[in-house]
Amino acid sequence: MNDFVFHNPVKLLFGKDQLAKLAEELPVYGKKVLVVYGGGSIKKNGLYDELMTILNEIDMEVYELPGVEPNPRVSTARKGAEICKKNHIDVILAVGGGSVIDCTKLIACAAKYEGDAWDFVIKKATPTDALPFGTVLTLAATGSEMNSGSVITNEETEEKYGWGSPFSFPKFSILDPTYTLSVPKDHTVYGIVDMMSHMIEQYFNEASNTPIQDEMCEGVLRALIEEAPKLVSDLKNYELRKTILLGGTLGLNGFLRLGYIGDWATHEIEHAVSAVYDIPHAGGLAILFPHWMRYNMHVNPNRFAKFAKNVFGVTDEGRTVEEVAFLGIEQLSSFWTSIGAPESLADYAIDESKITLMAEKATRNGTIGRFNPLNQKDVEAILMAAL
Ligand code: NZQ
Ligand code: ZN
Repeated sequence: MNDFVFHNPVKLLFGKDQLAKLAEELPVYGKKVLVVYGGGSIKKNGLYDELMTILNEIDMEVYELPGVEPNPRVSTARKGAEICKKNHIDVILAVGGGSVIDCTKLIACAAKYEGDAWDFVIKKATPTDALPFGTVLTLAATGSEMNSGSVITNEETEEKYGWGSPFSFPKFSILDPTYTLSVPKDHTVYGIVDMMSHMIEQYFNEASNTPIQDEMCEGVLRALIEEAPKLVSDLKNYELRKTILLGGTLGLNGFLRLGYIGDWATHEIEHAVSAVYDIPHAGGLAILFPHWMRYNMHVNPNRFAKFAKNVFGVTDEGRTVEEVAFLGIEQLSSFWTSIGAPESLADYAIDESKITLMAEKATRNGTIGRFNPLNQKDVEAILMAAL
């Protein structure tokens, strides 16, 4: 375990009827609020109406930015920043999934910047200020509600990168499982795959001596493996939604990576795939992660065997370390397909024509991953295996 500083300033309001707390949380920052949301799910499930009632009651001056895309675009963030500047917005409220929250993070920083929002994403500039923002989460997946990360797509250049800043933490996040009851099966499954992937990215890390972190990560993964299939066949179950909602937040709020960063190559490869093909983030992860694991197993078979034993209960009796390790990877892959995740790039009609392009994009700044740094050829090999 490496030395570390841990600072997560996000105030979490978790559970039923927490939306009412907006009346306390929002006015602290001013009167003019920009409400950012997606393609309409919040209007269908009633959240929009509940929200507007509260905002009216507390006399907020409401501006709206609807239509944030899954895989949010920099053009939408630019639009949001313009609205903020023109109308002297005091505070932003993101209402939706990871895409809406990620877009809001960029809007908040770009609203206090004279240059182009994309500068932050490609690290040409660093935020020095931001508008305050809160979130109302509607989809358990990314953990964006309790971290400073944001992933943005530039549709013109077909690029998709993550960025973050001390200024891109939400001030507060409201997590009421009620608003996740309407998430359809496919996005419920993607969310589960995404949160598990975050844990696995962190599990295969660059550090040694991490027994406490390993136990925490394995334990949360085991709970998800137990509970997730129940939710997938009972989508309206509030208690199961609650568990999965907590899982998503814990997956990427920093608790599971105290003392290391984790690998993250699979996420970088997936971001390149969804930049070019605009597929759902975790659909890509479900396909790519088992291939990343097979490709990298030789680096530390004991680590993979530990994962197999402690997460999936693979026994080592009569098996070599490599056999145990391999079985863990197969179990992960078949668990994901058993709940309905895709298995190969062909499921999204992706063929080999743009493999080199995607591998180039993923490695544009050099090698990726910390467990085993990968170059462009390595990424091409992983993508080819995933076809
Ligand atoms: O746009 P609306 O109409 O709201 O519909 C959304 C969207 O179509 C729908 N949805 C959300 N809540 C719903 C709902 N439908 C019914 N009922 C509800 N309650 O679900 C669809 C997907 O939403 P999206 O926000 O795109 O999903 P997710 O939360 O998985 O976010 C994916 C984005 O986050 C990035 C991904 O790359 C991708 O761009 N990530 C962000 C991370 C971070 N900030 O920390 C880390 C992740 O690894 C990830 O890369
Ligand atoms: Zn992810």
